[in-house]
Amino acid sequence: MTLYASAPSNIALVKYWGKRNTQHNLPLTSSFSVTLETMRTWVAISPLSDGPDRWALYGNPKKALRVLAEARAFTHNSQPLAISIHNDFPSGAGLASSASSMAALAFALDLALNDGNTPRTEVARWARLGSGSAVRSLYPGFVLWEAGLDPEGRDCIAQSRFPASQLPLDLIACVVDDRTKPIGSTQAMERCRDTSPSYAAFHTRNADDLRRALHALQTQNLEALGQVSEENCLAMHAVMHQAQPPIDYFQDGTHAAIATVRALRQQGLPCFFTIDAGPNVKVLCPPAHTPALREALEHTTGVTRLLFDRVSDSAARRELAWPAHLPAHAHSPTTPLHTHAIPLPNTTSFPPTGAAR
Ligand code: DP6
Repeated sequence: MTLYASAPSNIALVKYWGKRNTQHNLPLTSSFSVTLETMRTWVAISPLSDGPDRWALYGNPKKALRVLAEARAFTHNSQPLAISIHNDFPSGAGLASSASSMAALAFALDLALNDGNTPRTEVARWARLGSGSAVRSLYPGFVLWEAGLDPEGRDCIAQSRFPASQLPLDLIACVVDDRTKPIGSTQAMERCRDTSPSYAAFHTRNADDLRRALHALQTQNLEALGQVSEENCLAMHAVMHQAQPPIDYFQDGTHAAIATVRALRQQGLPCFFTIDAGPNVKVLCPPAHTPALREALEHTTGVTRLLFDRVSDSAARRELAWPAHLPAHAHSPTTPLHTHAIPLPNTTSFPPTGAAR
């Protein structure tokens, strides 16, 4: 029987940008995010009569394999599997595709290997070992991921702090460039840690930014939430710009979209932006203002297209079927092992027959 699951992307308003432990993939500071609804990763898993596992995925095979290894170790279930992972939005372009894909994979593996009986914190641990930010896609609404202090991360847990209804927000992703970014988050964080003079200061300010963001939510104050989100995002990018060699994800369209958001806000339209490890700009606003923002962002030079989503309570979940709008999930393995992003449609036997497991 084939099992299906999906998980949405999540976007951090107070960012995770550094690790206190790379082996367990533990963040240096806590982060705060919004869970989306329509930008999702879909996973289909079917049992195979014998190995090796078969994969159809894009994204980072190493990360996916780590999640599978953790799931197998916890469940003591080594059933060979055919696993398809498909994003229904651009991958590797700073739209948090690794968060949704690792969350969806961890969630689906729990269904396939353990009938969905694994505690959520353990599923979150598997997801975290694939990609730190993936933890947040397992929870609805406005999500706090606490860094914790435990060396093995037992207190590094995420939880939903507010439902989406606390402050209804639409999200418009301004796609400036949807190609895979030149340097991934994991590597970029390491370079910042090793070379950026503002790395430590960013983490020092984080606790205060988090307190401000939580207070803004509590008081349903969009302006305050927007202010801290933009400040935190720009502080993270300043850390990158000061790394050696500098990491600059911004493109002309990024600057233009920021200028549009600032101009509209000046005119009284409530909205704010945030940007992750890529050139694309995410704009958040109350739903009533989406049409006006859409009009302005559509005509912003350098913005190639817009994607629409909203903050929602629809976190990772089981699905009944593969969605009709995506290519069929069943592929037979054809390509050898890849250690970098591979485009769909594609299937790989991973690890290849005969390789060490
Ligand atoms: C800029 O979760 O992709 O999106 O744990 O190394 O896989 P790894 O990093 P990842 O980093 C996300 C960074 C960010 C900010 C955020 O989502 O908090």
